[in-house]
Amino acid sequence: MTDIAELERQLTAAIAQAGDEAQLEQVRVAALGKKGSISELLKSLGTLSPEERKTRGPQFNGLRDRITTAIAGRKQALGDAALNARLAAERVDITLPVRPEPRGSIHPVSQVLDEITAIFADLGFAIAEGPDVEFDDYNFTRLNMPPGHPAREMHDTFYVAAQDDSAAANGEAAGQQKTRNVLRTHTSPVQVRTMLKEKPPIRIIAPGRTYRVDSDATHTPMFHQIEGLVIDRETHLGHLKWTMEEFAKAFFEVEKVEMRARPSFFPFTEPSVEWDIRCDRSGGQIKFGTGDDWLEFAGSGMVHPRVLELCGLDPTEYQGYAFGAGLDRLAMLKYGIPDLRPMFESDLRWLSHYGFAALDIPTLDGGISR
Ligand code: DAH
Repeated sequence: MTDIAELERQLTAAIAQAGDEAQLEQVRVAALGKKGSISELLKSLGTLSPEERKTRGPQFNGLRDRITTAIAGRKQALGDAALNARLAAERVDITLPVRPEPRGSIHPVSQVLDEITAIFADLGFAIAEGPDVEFDDYNFTRLNMPPGHPAREMHDTFYVAAQDDSAAANGEAAGQQKTRNVLRTHTSPVQVRTMLKEKPPIRIIAPGRTYRVDSDATHTPMFHQIEGLVIDRETHLGHLKWTMEEFAKAFFEVEKVEMRARPSFFPFTEPSVEWDIRCDRSGGQIKFGTGDDWLEFAGSGMVHPRVLELCGLDPTEYQGYAFGAGLDRLAMLKYGIPDLRPMFESDLRWLSHYGFAALDIPTLDGGISR
């Protein structure tokens, strides 16, 4: 006859030794499965005499119940241990300090935009904005380029399906033009928007995206410009010159610049002046203040009386100056970037080479570049 106490000892030991749920299952099958040792005992009850059955029956059943309970207990313990091990392995230490090196960098165009904003904010200029999809009227006509004007041709304009502009239909441009259908070819339409909306004195810069059908090493179909506009009663060319010089000195971070004014033509200014900066490019790097070379810096002029009129200002009362420069071009010059096109290709290698520390904000007292 099987020694029940011995069987129980063996099974209990096997249960305790089972290292995982699969091993434990083997023990269970060996004891309680169809052909298991306990199942065989229970089956043998049928062959016993009624007396023996009376004593053996409770023993076998008791054994089965204790082993079943022991297996369940062990199973629970193994499950808890497995969960604890997984929790420990997958633990995230949220008390660790954040990565000391910030990832990502500031694009040179954003950097230069922040620098220029800091410079002009210090001079008392506000930031003005306009939409990328603009009225033909604002991009051209009110800047003294009526339909058919030859200067329009030079802008290589992208025309787009007309965009309804309900704000304009109800407001400022009511009765004029209600749909916007050009990608602005320059930031100058922001001058128009500002004059239509605000009363002088006006002192704004307007940075933003601009578009022209053009693509080579120094032109991309989308590029950036910065516009400036100052309107008051006695603003004159001397103010413009001073502003250009302060801008150039602060931007290129030099004590002194020598600037040259070249007479030029823009339909929206009279007279029109282009500003060059004396520089030296002989060492492969650009230096300001010395040299025999000249660098084109910005276009500008006194706002044409016709433009003032078209924008609702009386030219016998007000006058002012405006200027415009290419932001990408300024970024390339300042930071020695040779080709314009990679600027807009989102190549991470390019960005990490030419990009700027993400947490350094340009300020005039803290230093505008790094
Ligand atoms: N809008 C001109 C361009 O895209 C740049 C410019 C020239 C802007 C003279 C001005 C200005 O405000 O006065 O070429």
